[in-house]
Amino acid sequence: MPALTFHLPDGSTRRLEGQTGTLMELARNAGIPGIVGECGGACACGTCHVRLCPEALAHLGPATTDERNILDFEDSAAPDSRLACQISLAALPDGLTFTLPGSRQEEAT
Ligand code: FES
Repeated sequence: MPALTFHLPDGSTRRLEGQTGTLMELARNAGIPGIVGECGGACACGTCHVRLCPEALAHLGPATTDERNILDFEDSAAPDSRLACQISLAALPDGLTFTLPGSRQEEAT
């Protein structure tokens, strides 16, 4: 079961574990601030925007065209941005890091 780290807007970090469902579901169910999942994972709202650490980006690849069409509306979107609802936990290795928009970690990159 992969352990994943989230950098939050208040500067804190949360470490979560999960192996089924999506990254959005894991984060939303754990109350990670900024992960709303308004469209339920239909790749239609952008309320699950995360930025990937270099290891996660290398493993998962960049946003798909459908994701990019949504991320284009996010001011804080970057080349390492993805929609967490499009990331399955099943294939994630241990130790990846995800940063929420507006976090201090994001500002440092
Ligand atoms: S939950 Fe709506 S785009 Fe991810």
